[in-house]
Amino acid sequence: MCGIVGYIGKTKAVDFVVDGLQSLEYRGYDSAGVSTIIDGQAVTTKQVGRVDALRVELESLSINKTAVAVGHTRWATHGIPSVNNAHPHFNSDKTIFVVHNGIIENYQELRTMLQSKGYSFVSETDTEVIPHLIDLNLKTEKSFQKAFEKTIEELDGAYAISALHVSEPDSLYVARLSSPLVIGVGDGEHFLASDATAIMDRTKKVIYLDDYEVAHITPDGLKIHNIRDAVQVQKEAELLDYDAEKAALGDYPNFMLKEIHEAPQTIQSAIRGRIKPEANTVKLGGLDNVMEQLQFIDRIVIVACGTSYYAGLVGEYLIEEIAGIPVEVQLASEFKYRNEPFSRSTALLAISQSGETADTIAALKKVESYGVLRLGIVNAVGSTIARMTDAGVYCHAGPEQSVASTKAFIAQVTVLTEIALNLSEGRTPLYKPLMKELQALPDKVKQIFESDGDIEKLAHKYKDYVDFLFIGRKYGYPCALEGALKLKEISYIHAEGYSAGEMKHGPLAMIDKQFPTFAIATDGELLEKTVSNIEEIRARKGKVVAIATQGNKSVAKVAGDVIYIPETLEQTQPLLIAIVMQLFSYHVAMAKGHNVDRPRNLAKSVTVE
Ligand code: AGP
Ligand code: GLU
Repeated sequence: MCGIVGYIGKTKAVDFVVDGLQSLEYRGYDSAGVSTIIDGQAVTTKQVGRVDALRVELESLSINKTAVAVGHTRWATHGIPSVNNAHPHFNSDKTIFVVHNGIIENYQELRTMLQSKGYSFVSETDTEVIPHLIDLNLKTEKSFQKAFEKTIEELDGAYAISALHVSEPDSLYVARLSSPLVIGVGDGEHFLASDATAIMDRTKKVIYLDDYEVAHITPDGLKIHNIRDAVQVQKEAELLDYDAEKAALGDYPNFMLKEIHEAPQTIQSAIRGRIKPEANTVKLGGLDNVMEQLQFIDRIVIVACGTSYYAGLVGEYLIEEIAGIPVEVQLASEFKYRNEPFSRSTALLAISQSGETADTIAALKKVESYGVLRLGIVNAVGSTIARMTDAGVYCHAGPEQSVASTKAFIAQVTVLTEIALNLSEGRTPLYKPLMKELQALPDKVKQIFESDGDIEKLAHKYKDYVDFLFIGRKYGYPCALEGALKLKEISYIHAEGYSAGEMKHGPLAMIDKQFPTFAIATDGELLEKTVSNIEEIRARKGKVVAIATQGNKSVAKVAGDVIYIPETLEQTQPLLIAIVMQLFSYHVAMAKGHNVDRPRNLAKSVTVE
């Protein structure tokens, strides 16, 4: 997600940076910018949209003979995509220029402290605190490098940072914590990038920065030290073995598998800075401005499409059980036609990964004149839906490239859990246990990845069936619906999600040995009823793949095949069940030779009604 490119050395620094940003476009971004130094003056260009637009503007400035430059492609987390919010960010004197990947968690406190010292801000981003903080530290530290390092030590969060100062045109300063940075070693020049795609045409000699490492880069020199251990670090350049396509996906064969495997950090990003067990609070900054109004909300209508709709169905159970507020989930494409009474104490909650889904936008437009509170759970910062709502909570999942939504579902359900906890104001016995369990979930997701081989075997066993039923109860019911959607949209197999309690009311008639069932039979008060469903299906020669909780013995006795998830609370089971179903559908589709990232007839964002 997003990217940093830098150059220091001989000439054509800006050309290299812009080419490098273009090669990182696959990482997804919404705006871009470059800063360079010409005759002791900084020149900065920023654009919302394609890197090409940046190139055109730079060419119009007929910039050449630049020896140092930093550039950035942004995937917004704080502040909409705009020129002001695009990087590089700078201090008021425009002498310090900074690009940053990641999130500065303590930016609010830093911003308030800097403002109290007279610093003014031009952007809404967390990043902008960095150049101002360097500026402040430069007043007490002996050198820019010392001021830069002191600043890095004062930041909390995840970052890759590059900074330059107009008085040091022969220096680049970089720092890394959680977000990647690679330095390319040339002859009398150095190259910097978020990944080697951007530098592989210029050098194969690379040095990867590790966490807590800060580097001072000059055309001929590179000094690295570890600010946590306060030691100088010697690193030998290694030879790059890289191809561009591979770079885009890391070690993954496609974006869908990459994004499924991003689930642990997706949960972490969705709870970072929000779940605070030590303070026993769930802090959702995006709802701060409507907390008063939320006190009077006695009903929530969730509107969404596809996978986001199914996340909303999980949210219905969560908010009703945890916060005690009635919830109704409606397909956005149906909501817009209904003539339903809508009281002012009803809030509308739109859920959308892209923030550009036409049906969901239409639903928001419908209630514009109702004067009701409009909330959003969106992944793409600054998207249309994010801007139409009065308040909301961002998913922070990073760009989701594969058409089949995977990590976005995980992020949405995590955020819905946080909203339910936030609305409960702690008045639920689930408050502490759920906060604790959300923090434990990333490791439990990783345990499921360890059984991927078993899931793949089952996928190969079932890949040739032409019909599939998915059943579940309570929290398992929306999981059944979402599982059916995942299978149908990438394997093209007819799959139906159904409430397990409905089997006798019709679906059982379809069952025979050619019509398998995926049964969600995880631990909970309703498990026995679902076990009975499995027995009814098996009695009619139907095959059953069950999802059960590790350690459970009863399900394996009745189901033909079982995939286990780690023990977890009933309310967080959907987050683990979803991973199993995503992997199952993925392997079925791969076994059928389908393009899982670009399934036929579908688009990533349905911007037409
Ligand atoms: C789900 O895998 C599909 N990509 C599709 O159903 C998607 O969830 C739906 O179009 C909603 O998109 P949104 O979340 O961007 O609004
Ligand atoms: N948090 C920063 C912002 O919103 C950086 C986001 C990114 O990694 O592009 O501008």
